[in-house]
Amino acid sequence: MEVVIVPDARAGGELIAEAMAQLLRRKPDALLGVATGSTPLPVYQALAAKVAAGTVDTARTRVAQLDEYVGLPADHPESYRSVLAREVLAPLGIAKAAFLGPDGSAEDVRAACTGYDAALAAAGGVDLQLLGIGTDGHIGFNEPCSSLASRTRIKTLTEQTREDNARFFGGDVDQVPYHVITQGIGTILEARHLVLLATGEGKADAVAATVEGPLAAVCPASALQLHPHATVVVDEPAAAKLKLAGYFRHAYAHKPDWQGL
Ligand code: F6R
Repeated sequence: MEVVIVPDARAGGELIAEAMAQLLRRKPDALLGVATGSTPLPVYQALAAKVAAGTVDTARTRVAQLDEYVGLPADHPESYRSVLAREVLAPLGIAKAAFLGPDGSAEDVRAACTGYDAALAAAGGVDLQLLGIGTDGHIGFNEPCSSLASRTRIKTLTEQTREDNARFFGGDVDQVPYHVITQGIGTILEARHLVLLATGEGKADAVAATVEGPLAAVCPASALQLHPHATVVVDEPAAAKLKLAGYFRHAYAHKPDWQGL
């Protein structure tokens, strides 16, 4: 995998937004896989600025959701469908009809999960999947010890993740659902390009385990080691525990321009 160390979250957002913009110039109807949470916001802001400036056209862009809370009605302000409508679709000018996501309020959750994997395949697969990372190394909501071959399914959040996410529910952990639907690790690995963004010192241990640790289900993000085109973008605090940081900086500084991200 490629590791790119950037000065701060804003620079990471700009770098990834430019990679998305280049993809959309090559393939205007690309399917972008998007994550929620705090980390990806600078990416969406930088991409929205490009749309506003007219340097990228999202008229045909499609967007796919990574995960969703189970039990929140779709129109709940913290359902990930609502969050993505607010933070991605509206600022990028993408119609709701171009959005793919599992139904977290479905009565038959299992059918919603298998149906979502089928919908992703029918859409031709995800071209670029943006990922955040949990403090425990989760990607999507694949918590530690998720199968590295897993498909979209229901998972139970760890208490740490529920506490981490309580900030989106007015600080009240009791409001955070216990269950989620998440693309499986096997599903995520089918995207053509994986781009993981990690910022802040709280992510430094998870980043080191992902990049330099063994491939192990206990750190779900380490599955990126299996992908032929995985890019990990980290700010300085999140890179603090990387032993090979010097090499990663050297490799990126000497990367041929034509390679892009
Ligand atoms: C959410 C998701 C999660 C988050 C992770 C980090 O769609 O995929 O894996 O990326 O929990 O969240 P933040 O960015 O809020 O630290």
